[in-house]
Amino acid sequence: MPRIGIIVGSIAGNSINRKVANVLPALAPEGTEFEFLDIADLPLYNYELDGDWPEVATAWKNALAGVDGVIFVTPEYSRSIPGALKNAIDWASRPWGQNSFTGKPSAVMGVSISPQGTAMAQQHLRNILAHSDSPTLGQPETFFQFRADAFGPDGSLQDETQISILRTFIEAAVAHVDKHARVAAGV
Ligand SMILES: Cc1cc2nc3c(=O)[nH]c(=O)nc-3n(C[C@H](O)[C@H](O)[C@H](O)COP(=O)(O)O)c2cc1C
Repeated sequence: MPRIGIIVGSIAGNSINRKVANVLPALAPEGTEFEFLDIADLPLYNYELDGDWPEVATAWKNALAGVDGVIFVTPEYSRSIPGALKNAIDWASRPWGQNSFTGKPSAVMGVSISPQGTAMAQQHLRNILAHSDSPTLGQPETFFQFRADAFGPDGSLQDETQISILRTFIEAAVAHVDKHARVAAGV
């Protein structure tokens, strides 16, 4: 089974995207491994740091190298992805010619309090991933509407319809990563 990195586009402690991302591993096919890849501590990318990268940036590159694929769970800020996520992607795109997302399968979803609140952000992210030559899952597009009352006190999701939306997404995302990982491994 594949090993998948989950990248939450928000660095807020109370992020609704993180709350929903936290639910995903339990809904995935058995045996899938997940690792949350943190972007909060990355400094702002500056090409003048090339050749003398901060440890946290090297760790970010290594973490991406260690997974078969990635799932982005992102909010929309100002009709695009948050600056923190764009910054993390900029780090991952360097050194020149060594973009961490090249050939790395990806899937995208987003959480907002409105029904299709992250549509623009997801479209922008898909554009960036296309440029990075990351094969990105086309369907299901997942615009997840956050409702605090759908969660139990332990953070578990209680609403069956919402569970089913997430299960459909994570099953498709895992199959997508698995398919590409098998091709890459020649099996
Ligand atoms: C700087 C900023 C810009 C935002 N812009 C949008 C937007 O363009 N579209 C949208 O649906 N929500 C927007 N929101 C509202 C977010 O959807 C909401 O804050 C949500 O909680 C963010 O997800 P998070 O809690 O995971 O960070 C914005 C929020 C912030 C802080």
